[in-house]
Amino acid sequence: MTKSFYITTPIYYVNDAPHIGHAYTTLACDVLARFKRLDGFDVRFLTGTDEHGQKVEKSAQAAGMDPQAFTDQVSQNFRDLTAAFDFSNDDFIRTTEARHKTSCQALWEKLVAAGDIYLASYPGWYAVRDEAFYDEKELTKNEDGKMIAPSGAECEWVEEPSYFFRLSAWQDRLLDFYEANPDFIGPTSRRNEVLSFVRGGLKDLSVSRTTFSWGIPVPGDADHIMYVWLDALTNYITAVGYPDEDSPAYKTFWPADLHMVGKDILRFHAVYWPAFLLSAGVAPPKRVFAHGWWTNEGQKISKSLGNVIDPHQLIETYGLDQVRYFLLREVPFGNDGDFSKRAMIGRMNYDLANQFGNLAQRVLSMIAKNCGGQVPAPGAFTQADEDLMGNAARLLAQLRGFYDEQAFHKALEATWAVVSQANAYVDEQAPWALRKTDPARMGTVLYVLAESVRCLALLTQPVMPQSMAKMLDQLAVAADDRDFTALSKNLVAGTALPKPSGVFPRFVDDSESQA
Ligand code: MSP
Repeated sequence: MTKSFYITTPIYYVNDAPHIGHAYTTLACDVLARFKRLDGFDVRFLTGTDEHGQKVEKSAQAAGMDPQAFTDQVSQNFRDLTAAFDFSNDDFIRTTEARHKTSCQALWEKLVAAGDIYLASYPGWYAVRDEAFYDEKELTKNEDGKMIAPSGAECEWVEEPSYFFRLSAWQDRLLDFYEANPDFIGPTSRRNEVLSFVRGGLKDLSVSRTTFSWGIPVPGDADHIMYVWLDALTNYITAVGYPDEDSPAYKTFWPADLHMVGKDILRFHAVYWPAFLLSAGVAPPKRVFAHGWWTNEGQKISKSLGNVIDPHQLIETYGLDQVRYFLLREVPFGNDGDFSKRAMIGRMNYDLANQFGNLAQRVLSMIAKNCGGQVPAPGAFTQADEDLMGNAARLLAQLRGFYDEQAFHKALEATWAVVSQANAYVDEQAPWALRKTDPARMGTVLYVLAESVRCLALLTQPVMPQSMAKMLDQLAVAADDRDFTALSKNLVAGTALPKPSGVFPRFVDDSESQA
């Protein structure tokens, strides 16, 4: 039976244009989805837009638009981002779709049936920016006397009738669940934060609103719409067919293997979401991973500072695969990271152009010049030859381990260790000198190198799909020979290779001195 893999991004609020943070979360998921597909899994990769709630309603009002027309327009920006970054999602969900309304209302009915919903009234603080309720003791007063949430969002006092979810009753069962599923939250530091939050005691959660109407109606009480986070989280099961738990998609893909989220929204995914699901008798996802946040040249990214990084601009300046590589290589995944032009150019010119690009270019042009443009026939392999080819082939096992713990930086480091080894091998073997003294050995050395580049390119496809496709084209690797089963195959001597051309251009920056 084929193994399945279901991975999701958060669904993005349509109040704003996509920025680097959105691209980052989806990129991480895209790389994992691509890796698993190449590794033989049946993959479902979901992204989409979060279109209800007060924040979106207010943005629509500010734009002088009807909320549906507004969300139609802004949601398209996220689809455009998906296309620009070559993201390979299998579905794009919008919470204003009919399938989602059905799913949310069905989940609500289950929570009611479980006895976990009751009607009361909510007097308290609410931050529209975070779409979150806060306890007064979590807030600070700013110089204008406004109450400010730990996220920096301004809070307003709301007092309205509301349905509540009996979250307080779930504290012990959640703690048991975390204990029984030690990998449920990654990275470990975040897991500890969640555990101490839950141990500190949980209050019942307000899960409906009555003071505005842009949301999914509560079944049986048209005065209420569902709290936008309950609505939003449900997208993950809607997309695989909930409430039809017998649907093939649901059976294949639920529970999800991984919800990828930013650290700011971990509590919703690691506390509220499993509580809702357990209450409804639905299995919680297998894992939630919280990544860090990007700053820009050391500064927090914010619209008011005017330093928002436009992902489209970024790929226009540096190239798509260069940006994909940088975002995942520069910062240990899970930590916060700083975007700087200097670091970006450094990675692009050193790791990509000088190391990997130059390796492929040297090997392919030596073959073009000295072997009649054909894969040379190898003779007997030496220990050094076996070591290099063996390391390249063995990388897969290492990468599986790293990707399963979302350690993208380690996967890339391990890959580049082999790139460096291959470059050192070129220098040691000096094939250009062998041309005169021992052409047969030169053929073997170039074969070993071409074979190593092939393995490296196959394994790097998830991160840089377009550049690696070019590299594999130059090695005349057939399109249906590019999944990971091809690692155990070999280049065939005598295969004609196309004329080589560089895959990774250097970035030439006239405006400042380079790293
Ligand atoms: N709509 C909710 C998610 C609902 S999921 C059921 C939401 N949307 S969001 O558009 O505000 O944020 C989506 C993601 O972008 C979050 O994972 C968030 O962490 C991420 N980022 C926003 N700014 C970021 C950075 N500066 N850096 C990295 N990621 C950041 O929250």
